[in-house]
Amino acid sequence: MEERAQSTEWRARELYEHLDAGDSLFVLDVRNEDEFESWKIEGRGDVPTLNVPYYEMLEVDEHDDVVDSFAEYLAGKVVEELPRDASILAVCAKGDTSEYVAEALRRLGFDAFNLVGGTAAWGDFYRFAPVVEEGSTKVWQVSRSARGCLSYVLVDGGEAVVIDPLRHVDRYLELAEREGFEIRRILDTHGHADHISGGPKLAAATGAPYALHPYDAIHPLDVLPARLEYDYLKEGRTFEIGALTLRSLHVPGHTLGQVAFLADERWLFSGDSIFIDSIARPDLGGRGETWAPLHHAALRRLLELPDETLVLPGHFAHLDEADARGLFAAPLGRLRRENEGLVMAAKEREEFVRYILASLPRFPEEYVEIKRVNAGLVQPSEARASELEIGKNVCALADVHDG
Ligand SMILES: [Fe+2]
Repeated sequence: MEERAQSTEWRARELYEHLDAGDSLFVLDVRNEDEFESWKIEGRGDVPTLNVPYYEMLEVDEHDDVVDSFAEYLAGKVVEELPRDASILAVCAKGDTSEYVAEALRRLGFDAFNLVGGTAAWGDFYRFAPVVEEGSTKVWQVSRSARGCLSYVLVDGGEAVVIDPLRHVDRYLELAEREGFEIRRILDTHGHADHISGGPKLAAATGAPYALHPYDAIHPLDVLPARLEYDYLKEGRTFEIGALTLRSLHVPGHTLGQVAFLADERWLFSGDSIFIDSIARPDLGGRGETWAPLHHAALRRLLELPDETLVLPGHFAHLDEADARGLFAAPLGRLRRENEGLVMAAKEREEFVRYILASLPRFPEEYVEIKRVNAGLVQPSEARASELEIGKNVCALADVHDG
């Protein structure tokens, strides 16, 4: 605590902890307007945020020192809008410019911090947290907090399966090394559109086979077959991990090859079918009207599982979908009552299809390209991969929080 109080910077992990705790925080984001509009820092509740592009603050420049310029601009035009009773986090794309902004704010008497590495570091922050710990079994929920992407590492008897690994596969390798388990299987619940799968790369690094449903090994819009090595997932296929059995359920709707995995008949890795607050959208393959009825049938099938089945989803849209431990997990019994998409899935097919087609959010252009990457059709550079992954996922139906 001491150390944090004296520091003038926050790392991505500290930002996550403040957001998860719901601490009072104000963000001064100095990226340009387009960048700001496409992606902001979000918390459990609203995080008050002001966007003042840094180049505007340089326009007063008669100063040699950039901190003097920022301080003069902020004192003249922005100071009234900034809180005296909350921490202010200065944010830019990489954390270099915002360092001067934070210093200018401190000069004006504010309790200001710089976000080290900027939104780039925030976007690449991963949280590993145990969501199940029972005897020799441990399930880690891996959350890429800024993007709302979730993945899982299920370990039993020193063996592990990784479900939906995200792009930075070194994080999984470090966990395996630290915890002393061996990654034996890598499974993707579907061909992802919103993020680059770490599956093939993790397979290459570990020698473990990578599996995908063959329906998702075709680019749905280009209609080109995937150029990658994969093991076939299909309905009813089982995997043994230590003493545990993982069973595949083919639940098409979000994609044609969408699969969920049921471990020990009680932990449901639902991929992009059921989320905590919502359900997956059916239109990212360009066939929303055709796939929505499949989605209805698949969700109905999942609704037949027992109430105590623990749902472990592939995404979240808001940090406040997490429980008090910051975990995204809930019993199916609760979700069948509280999740609007599941309430609708329990209704007749026509009504469900009408509902879902009326609730589709925007279709981000880059998703078409991300699907190409995940099918092995293009190999982006690291810089291009980061660019494709900017922003939050929109795999769920339109934001229930915004109505
Ligand atoms: Fe998805």
